[in-house]
Amino acid sequence: MNQWEEFLAPYKQAIDELKIKLKGLRKQYESIDKPSPIEFVTGRVKPISSIIDKANQRDIPFDRLREEMYDIAGLRMMCQFVDDIDVVVELLRQRQDFDVVEERNYIEYTKESGYRSYHVIISYPIETLHGKTNILAEIQIRTLAMNFWATIEHTLRYKYDGDYPPEIRNRLERAAEAAFLLDEEMSEIREEIQEAQKYYSRQKSNKHNHD
Ligand code: GTP
Ligand code: MG
Repeated sequence: MNQWEEFLAPYKQAIDELKIKLKGLRKQYESIDKPSPIEFVTGRVKPISSIIDKANQRDIPFDRLREEMYDIAGLRMMCQFVDDIDVVVELLRQRQDFDVVEERNYIEYTKESGYRSYHVIISYPIETLHGKTNILAEIQIRTLAMNFWATIEHTLRYKYDGDYPPEIRNRLERAAEAAFLLDEEMSEIREEIQEAQKYYSRQKSNKHNHD
């Protein structure tokens, strides 16, 4: 194994384990016929080139990466409604299999860019052949609307290297406002939506109970 593979192995393992655990939460809600606060979960290990770029930008020496770069393992938990985010964060705080070491609330404190999400940094124990080690991972909890905006903005940021033409900057601001309003509107009719989803999922399980 080369040095990068060796360094990244526990992060890969953490992502695999955490994806299963966090996706499992959604299944548990389904099994008790309750609306899940989690819509879907994604996870990734940061590409080596991005780790190197960020380490250079932040003057992080390579032997300090494990302590100082907390998003080498990254997960996202998407919710339908803004209120679900608090429920998910509380679920994470209650867990016995990892510790929450930091929280950043970019929903209450929206970023200058318009970015909204709730970030939780966890310390996660990994068992390897060499024993137990703890790695840091960043979990971003956001609504589908927040995710849509952040995904698009991230792509544009990459294209323009963060230096947007005024027209694009203006559109992104308006899109952030629209995403915010979408979340507000959906919250207003949350009960109606969840009633319909319950009805729909029951119908579906009746129709497909043979597979
Ligand atoms: P980085 O932004 O990752 O370099 O680290 P940081 O120490 O500044 O932490 P911060 O909490 O600001 O951001 C962590 C992560 O949140 C980023 O890697 C992105 O995934 C996401 N993020 C933060 N700000 C923005 C933003 O303005 N737009 C988008 N699309 N994502 C953001
Ligand atoms: Mg940042």
